[in-house]
Amino acid sequence: MKVLVVGGGGREHAIVRSVAASERVDKIYCAPGNAGIAQLAECVDIGVMEFEKLTDFALKEKIDLTIVAPDDPLVAGAVDAFESKGLRAFGPRANAAILEGSKAFSKDLMKKYNIPTASYENFDDADAALKYLETAKFPIVLKADGLALGKGVLICNTHEEAVEGVKTIMLDKQFGNAGNRMVIEEFMTGREVSVLTFVDGKTIRPMTSAQDHKRALDGDKGLNTGGMGTFSPSPFYTKEIDEYCMKNIYQPTVDAMAAEGREFKGVIFFGLMLTNDGPKVLEYNARFGDPEAQVVLPRMNSDIIDVMEACIDGTLDKIELDFEDNAAVCVVLASKGYPVKYEKGFEIRGLEKFDGKDGYYVFHAGTKLKDGKVVTNGGRVLGVTALGADLKSARANAYEAAGWIDFDNKYSRSDIGKAIDEA
Ligand code: AMP
Ligand code: GLY
Repeated sequence: MKVLVVGGGGREHAIVRSVAASERVDKIYCAPGNAGIAQLAECVDIGVMEFEKLTDFALKEKIDLTIVAPDDPLVAGAVDAFESKGLRAFGPRANAAILEGSKAFSKDLMKKYNIPTASYENFDDADAALKYLETAKFPIVLKADGLALGKGVLICNTHEEAVEGVKTIMLDKQFGNAGNRMVIEEFMTGREVSVLTFVDGKTIRPMTSAQDHKRALDGDKGLNTGGMGTFSPSPFYTKEIDEYCMKNIYQPTVDAMAAEGREFKGVIFFGLMLTNDGPKVLEYNARFGDPEAQVVLPRMNSDIIDVMEACIDGTLDKIELDFEDNAAVCVVLASKGYPVKYEKGFEIRGLEKFDGKDGYYVFHAGTKLKDGKVVTNGGRVLGVTALGADLKSARANAYEAAGWIDFDNKYSRSDIGKAIDEA
């Protein structure tokens, strides 16, 4: 069959690799893709929001299955656009992707269906938010309602900071229309875990757990980024916690969406905080995480096409997911200065060292081909993933492999996965 993957970062590279591993697949296209994806798929120069061009391409090439990976097109209705032309697409429709697209929606859903999460209030206007802050407890968390590249969350330690935050989100509109509404919620403490799940509208199948390191600098310091590295599984996510989440969070979320007439098919990514009062939802995403996909998918033995088709067809109850009993660590190689200001266009050396090495992967995030050479083309450049029998060996392998790569201004955190030492 012919498959089209929509997107062009490290997550999409990991998805394309899994698709290429399926015996059912003859040809893969990726729009727009990147220099690494181009080794496995034919890259097509169409942007992820160009629905008309994407669906025309899929019709012309007789694509059997399109996988929409990023949040923006999902929330804007990419899957609806494919379906309206009679094409099969994996991912939630817009009315279900709202689970990620509106934090106010997702908080109200959790409240209505008793799904554990931080207590909160939603606000449509800044004055009401400022009034609420007068009697609030600190620290407190402010969240722009809409999509904000993972940057629309402000943790405020004092009343003054929170007042500034409300201005930033609702008045200065630093996150654009995402800040037309906002959520103010209780600050929670605990371990964070990411659990990606496949969903077919009724049945939910969790993948193995992962943890992301969002801050730019070692010791979880510095600015929030799109993610500087991940490890999987999380040693803090026990079988008991998994069972609790299945009963109190995962299945109730799927059932709640169905009850609201917003049947969810695709991937729900549960961002969880393991608090002293039990696991609670930090956020929902309506897609694979980036760079969570880069550690979860390489450990999955199940055929990704079989699983995705079961999600579309509502037959996921017939499928048991199969993961290797091992571990993976992904170290992001970024451009110095990311996430603020950085240079691009430097030649990347050492990529060939990954050829033919089992258990080592170099996923391209921001790269492009220039005069036959692969050059840096973004803040996050590569995600180097390695497997290992356990987390410690996976981490050692990932850092060894990260050293095979060289480019000017290369920067990575040196403590990805270090939290596992405390487990
Ligand atoms: P989100 O995009 O909602 O996951 O938020 C980004 C990050 O902000 C999370 O990964 C947490 O580290 C932090 N965060 C979000 N909500 C809370 C909360 N209620 N309490 C503490 N930290 C939070
Ligand atoms: N790594 C977090 C995300 O994909 O949103």
